[in-house]
Amino acid sequence: MTLPFRPAGFMALLLTTLCLGVAHAEDPLPHLQRQGDATQLVVHGAPFLVRGGELGNSSASSMAWMEPAWPKLADMHMNTVLAPVYWELLEPEEGEFDFTLVDELLAEARDQDMKLVLLWFGAWKNSMSAYVPAWVKTDPGRFPRALDADGVPQEILTVFSEENLRADRAAFVRLMDHLRRVDSRDHTVIMVQVENEIGMLPTARDHHPAANAAWTGAVPADLLAALAERADAGALVPEMAAWWEERGAPDAGSWEAVFGPGSRSEELFMAWYYARWVQELVVAGRDAWDLPMFVNAALNRPGREPGSGYPSAGPLPHLMDVWKAGAPDLDFLAPDFYTPRFRHWSDLYTRQGDPLFVPEHRFDDTAAAKALFAFGHYEAIGFAPFSIETGGEAERALLAGAFDLVRQLEPLVTAHQGRDAIDGVLLDHELREETRQFGDWTFHFRHDHTLGWSPGSDAPEWPAASVIVVRTGEDDFVIAGTGVVVTFSRANGQAGILTAQEGRFDDGKWRPGRTLNGDQTHQGRHIRIPVGQWDLQRFSLYRY
Ligand code: DGJ
Repeated sequence: MTLPFRPAGFMALLLTTLCLGVAHAEDPLPHLQRQGDATQLVVHGAPFLVRGGELGNSSASSMAWMEPAWPKLADMHMNTVLAPVYWELLEPEEGEFDFTLVDELLAEARDQDMKLVLLWFGAWKNSMSAYVPAWVKTDPGRFPRALDADGVPQEILTVFSEENLRADRAAFVRLMDHLRRVDSRDHTVIMVQVENEIGMLPTARDHHPAANAAWTGAVPADLLAALAERADAGALVPEMAAWWEERGAPDAGSWEAVFGPGSRSEELFMAWYYARWVQELVVAGRDAWDLPMFVNAALNRPGREPGSGYPSAGPLPHLMDVWKAGAPDLDFLAPDFYTPRFRHWSDLYTRQGDPLFVPEHRFDDTAAAKALFAFGHYEAIGFAPFSIETGGEAERALLAGAFDLVRQLEPLVTAHQGRDAIDGVLLDHELREETRQFGDWTFHFRHDHTLGWSPGSDAPEWPAASVIVVRTGEDDFVIAGTGVVVTFSRANGQAGILTAQEGRFDDGKWRPGRTLNGDQTHQGRHIRIPVGQWDLQRFSLYRY
């Protein structure tokens, strides 16, 4: 039976309000802000870089199981854990909520000095509805399932059911309201992911009778108006702009009339309804506790068909405009990386000026270098390898190297974000060189193994190498990373290295180590961080 949510008694309410008032005055809720053309996540009033790791799916269901994991996370210099909240465990009986796990997770995170990004494993997790409580699973009459093209029910709640939405939203709101009550002082939870890798399988669209009715009905006017507005502003992604023009910018009609026959229209159709659902959760959830919210995507394989070849209609780059139109209060869309084309996908997710946040990256031996690249080149909000507690020793050591640098650089990086003063490169066996411009200085980056004398340069595969560069003054730079060599030039004259020094930042204060010259700079020719080291250097250039 559904128990109505009852506000606390008057005194409790008054106390909460007073406490919240004080907390808000001194310590605003985690939120996003723009600085120049960058988006920053602000935590405890200061910009924050998420040095994250996402837990394996079942790990947060047992704090005893988690116990040996926490020290490993701290050793990697993480500051944030991405952890699921499971609807089935949160609301085992309808209307009866058990917050024990959530509370234990918050307490552990605080003990470990970690922040949390909570992942709502609600109606959908990786397309499926495996995390819905038993009382939902076993009552398909009340909580209807999506059907495939043959009418076969799937273990997927249909998005075309008010009752499904009502149940998912009610549980999500209780979670957010609980956070308001238990986290208003500490702000341990800094963001929330709504559902997990939403997408329709095994067909491009749901064939539930309610879905069929919507499919043959008119495209909602709100969507057409939003697309027309974005088209007029030249703001559609190129894929969407091409479809829009191909169809003659229609202002009414059925889905197939507007977007053409076939799976493309079916995918757009589902994307709209998924986005509308997410919008409902975001608005109601933020009303209870106003944290930044995002959704994540299982990336599609180019050339494959939606539904049969990849989860149809997730928050994917070619559907961004529909997702944004359907869920305008959602903060951003985020890619999960289990495929190698990191630059390609990151470019697509950031092409409309949105921030990059990577909630999942396969915990492989490229993750650490990509993390640094993400913070450098994309000025990312954060990066999190997946199944962080089970990663191998070698991968953990690499990530510790990268995150230690990000930790040291955080004040410097966040002060310079959005101001054309930060960049990064990611190099490997295939992409061995890159060029970047800082004012009139041209930086030529090469993989360290392009130096014949770099140990390992004759190996068949080269390790991922990356650096982040911050321009701290006209001719002054900080570089941090691994496996990269840099030489310098400028258009009108020569460029030389004036001084170079290695060192560390402690709470933003520079602690110098060796002054680098001689062999370490190849007699003044280059700045180098060899493969196998994660180092930080300051250097100045001069013109001659
Ligand atoms: C992506 C999902 O979002 C994760 O929860 C997990 O299932 C991984 N895939 C497994 O590779």
